[in-house]
Amino acid sequence: MSEPAAREQWKSGAGFVLATIGCAAGLGNIWRFSYVAGENGGGAFLLIYVVCVLLLGLPLMLAELSIGRRAQSDVVESFGGADKRRCWPLAGWLMAIASFVLLSYYAVIAGWAYKYFAAYLIGAPSGLASGEFSAYFAAFVADPVEPLVWQFLVVASTVAVIIGGVKRGIEAVNRVLMPLLGAIVVLLAAYALSLEGAGAGIAFLFRPDWSALAHPSVYLAALGQAFFSLGIGAGALLTYGSYTAAGQKLAPAALGVVAGDTMFAVIAGIAIFPAVFAFGLDPAQGPTLAFVTLPEVFNVLPAGRFFAVAFFVLLGLGALTSAVSLLEVPCAVLMRELRWTRQKTALLTGAGVFALGVPSALGFGVLQGIGILGLGILESIDRIASSVILPVGGLLIAVFVGWKWPYTDALRTAGLEAGVVGYLWRLLLRYVAPCLIVFILVGLATA
Ligand code: PFF
Repeated sequence: MSEPAAREQWKSGAGFVLATIGCAAGLGNIWRFSYVAGENGGGAFLLIYVVCVLLLGLPLMLAELSIGRRAQSDVVESFGGADKRRCWPLAGWLMAIASFVLLSYYAVIAGWAYKYFAAYLIGAPSGLASGEFSAYFAAFVADPVEPLVWQFLVVASTVAVIIGGVKRGIEAVNRVLMPLLGAIVVLLAAYALSLEGAGAGIAFLFRPDWSALAHPSVYLAALGQAFFSLGIGAGALLTYGSYTAAGQKLAPAALGVVAGDTMFAVIAGIAIFPAVFAFGLDPAQGPTLAFVTLPEVFNVLPAGRFFAVAFFVLLGLGALTSAVSLLEVPCAVLMRELRWTRQKTALLTGAGVFALGVPSALGFGVLQGIGILGLGILESIDRIASSVILPVGGLLIAVFVGWKWPYTDALRTAGLEAGVVGYLWRLLLRYVAPCLIVFILVGLATA
C-alpha cells in the first residue's frame, strides 16, 4: 500500500478563521437563536447567553482547537494519542458519532431553507394570504417526498465541498461565503430597522426583563444554545484546529470566532424581531418562527419577496458551511482509519448521513407520532444531540485539557502567556466549565 499523503493544512490563517466562523455561524444563529431567544424572554436571555459564551464558550473553543492543533490529527487519534488501550479514544469516537448524528437532522432543516429559497425565487409563496403560511409549511414537511429531495441536495452540496479538500473545498467556499453572508445579514438588519414600529423588536431583544432571571429554564436554554451556536463538543473545531500551521495563533482566532458568531446571532435578531413586532406577531412562536412567522412578515413587507430570498440564502448557505464542518469530522477519522480516499469517504459518509436523516425528514408526515417525551423524531434527536451529547463533549474537552495536559504544555499550544489570562483559562476549564456542564445535565434530567 502506498504511503498516506501528507496531512492537509489551511492555506492561510485568515482562511482558517473564516472556515471556523463558517462552522459556528449557521442555523443556530438564525433559526435557533431567534426562536430560543423569543421563547425565553429576549433581553434577559441575551444577557445570560453572552455570559455563557464568555465563561464557557470561549475557553472551551480554545481548548477544542488546541487539542486538534497539538495532535495534528482527527478526533479519535487526538484524544487517543499513541496509546490505544486507554479510554480516551472513546471520547473521539463519541464526537465522530455526535457530528454524524447532528448532521443527519441538521441537513433536514437546512433542506427546508433551500426549499424556501427556491420557492421565493420563483415567487411561489407570494400568492398566499395572511394566515396561510402555517398550512403551507405543514403541507410541505408532511409530504413523503419533497423534504427528502431538499435534504438530499444539502447532503450532496456538503459532500461536494468535502471532496474539494481542506484548501480548495472548505477554505475556498468559506472565503467567499462568509463575507457575503456577513453583508446580507447586515443589510437585512438595516432594512428591518427602517420599518415603522421596529423599536418594539429592538427593545425585546436588548431590554432585559429581570423577572426572566428567576426561571432556571432560561439558564439551561442559554447554555445549550451557546454550545450549539459556537459548535462546541462535536469535534468540528478540533478537526479544523488540526489543519492549522505551527505558527497559527489560536487564542486570537478563538476570540474572533466567538465575537463573530455572537455578532452574527445578534444582528440576525435585529433583522428578525423588529419585523415580527412591526406586524404584531408572536416572537415566542418556537421552531417554526423562521418558516411560518417570518413568511407572514415577508408577505406584508414592502419588497418582502426580495427580503425573503436574501433571508433564505443566508439561512441555507450559513447551514451549508456548518454542515461541511460536521461532515469533515467523521470523514477525517475514516480517511485515516481505513485509508480511503477523500472522495470515497465523503460519498459513503454522506450516504450514511442522508439515510440516518430520512426518519427525521419524514417525522412530520408518514412517521408522525414517533419520538420520545412527546416530541417528534427530529426534535427528539435534536434534544439529545444538542442538550446532552454536545455538553458531554464539552465536558470531556475541559477535563482533557484542564486536568490531563501539563499546564505549560496547554498554554504553549493555545498560545497563551503564563499570566492572568492563562491562569483564568485553566481555572475555567478545570472547575467552572465542568461544574456548569454538570449543572446543565442534571437540570435537564430533572426538568
Ligand atoms: N454552530 C452551528 C450552528 O450554529 O448552526 C451548528 C454546529 C456546527 C454544531 C458544528 C456543532 C458543530 F460541531
